Amino acid sequence: MTTTLRTLTRRQVDRSVKDSLAQVYLAAYGDPALPESALDADNFVTSTLPRHARRAGFRLVVATTDDVVSGYGYGFTGRRGQFWSDWLAGAAPEAIVEDWVGDHFELVDLVVDPAFRGQGLSGLLHDALVQDLPHERALLATAPDDGPAARLYSGRGWQVLVPEIDGAKALFGLDLTTRTAQ
Ligand SMILES: CC(C)(COP(=O)(O)OP(=O)(O)OC[C@H]1O[C@@H](n2cnc3c(N)ncnc32)[C@H](O)[C@@H]1OP(=O)(O)O)[C@@H](O)C(=O)NCCC(=O)NCCS
Repeated sequence: MTTTLRTLTRRQVDRSVKDSLAQVYLAAYGDPALPESALDADNFVTSTLPRHARRAGFRLVVATTDDVVSGYGYGFTGRRGQFWSDWLAGAAPEAIVEDWVGDHFELVDLVVDPAFRGQGLSGLLHDALVQDLPHERALLATAPDDGPAARLYSGRGWQVLVPEIDGAKALFGLDLTTRTAQ
């Protein structure tokens, strides 16, 4: 199997890209048999993603394996005044907020289609997503268990900043200054 990665700008997120991402979203988060799952996936590509794509620092990486879109990851520059940054400012300890929140790269999601999991695709997506970012810090929230997401991030330098921030999720941070200095 051959996987290629493409980094897309907002303008390159056209109908065909959206359709492919909706398929991956549905396979990863929904039940293809349920109409509400299809609506949810459609809402992601027609509302959430375009809204996020308008933000500064938007970066989307799409993986294609043997001509099929197999995964994606994206983020943007997180700033005070945006929902998640403001929410974090109230939910995380003050010292963490001061050091980490604002002008960070917000890794919103990184998803691999279940049909392509367990082959290291998430690492490829991750590395392309954070490569040469101008930000000093990156943030994301995911479950800190021993599952693939936590293993992916822990193995790539992310640290748990707040173990319980959003139900079962932890706040993870990545110091990008040590990378750019290398
Ligand atoms: C998290 C996710 C992207 C991983 O994708 P993937 O391409 O299958 O992952 P990889 O094959 O690159 O494996 C990543 C790590 O998890 C480990 N792993 C893979 N499958 C695993 C499993 N079933 N259980 C535990 N660990 C597993 C791998 O060994 C690897 O760890 P290592 O680097 O220490 O060897 C995928 O499971 C997914 O899309 N999940 C739903 C969306 C999500 O939760 N995204 C993260 C939130 S931002």
